[in-house]
Amino acid sequence: MNIVLLNEAVKKTKALLPDTAPTTAVILGSGWGCVVSTFSEIHSIPYAKVPCLGSTQVKGHEGRLIVAEHNGSQIMFFQGRRHWYEGAGWEPVALPILLCAELGVSTLILTNAAGGIRSDLNTGSLMVIDDHINAMGVNPLQGSHDPLLGPRFPDQTRVYNEKVRQSIDRSAQTLNIPLTHGIYAAVCGPTYETPAEVNALRLMGADAVGMSTVPEAILANAIGLNVAAISCITNYAAGIARETLSHEDVITNTHNAQPAMTALFRQLLPSIT
Ligand code: HPA
Repeated sequence: MNIVLLNEAVKKTKALLPDTAPTTAVILGSGWGCVVSTFSEIHSIPYAKVPCLGSTQVKGHEGRLIVAEHNGSQIMFFQGRRHWYEGAGWEPVALPILLCAELGVSTLILTNAAGGIRSDLNTGSLMVIDDHINAMGVNPLQGSHDPLLGPRFPDQTRVYNEKVRQSIDRSAQTLNIPLTHGIYAAVCGPTYETPAEVNALRLMGADAVGMSTVPEAILANAIGLNVAAISCITNYAAGIARETLSHEDVITNTHNAQPAMTALFRQLLPSIT
């Protein structure tokens, strides 16, 4: 990770966001972009104008950095994310997290689309991530160490903040939105898994699988942000159902869950900002 380049990019991005002091930030993954629609936007910047971030290359990821206001608090939304498999290095993945730290954000909520491995996870289920398995074979903190990225060997006993997870539970209960908890395994992608890989992940203890979130959670936890993450289960992981997997189905299935996602965040964000 080129920390000099990232530092410059963070400073330049901060200059694009005058009068911005968000306490909470949300990274919206595949199909989650709708969540922004119910908040009043103060700033909206296309990713292409944000140094280091660049344009998302994935359908379903809008690519806008938004600052919104709600009940007197500011929330920063990253509408779409960059992935390691896009081949642009760790900088586009890390920029949002370092920007959060620079702007004084204390809580970061990550969202994603994931394949369900555990038998009770159906299409449209929302799952709070309690812990993760990094099956990517890489780690964003590899390389020379910079104190800006936290300790050399960050503790990961509690990556996902318990209080924020409880707030998510309370919001879902208030709205009668079914919500489950589980372990998320991250793989590199861009291929979906083979059925044998899904079976191996299940034996390792994974409930769901996806191609994102864990690098951001590792970095955000290392630099001291309160992290939480929610998956929308968009398909049965490979080999669990008879169907083959496609990104189009992933997008369609997140559409079905959008009313629940939007309502959940509208309830949750004021309670934690
Ligand atoms: N595997 C990996 N990533 C995913 C999946 C999946 O089944 N569904 C959505 N993102």
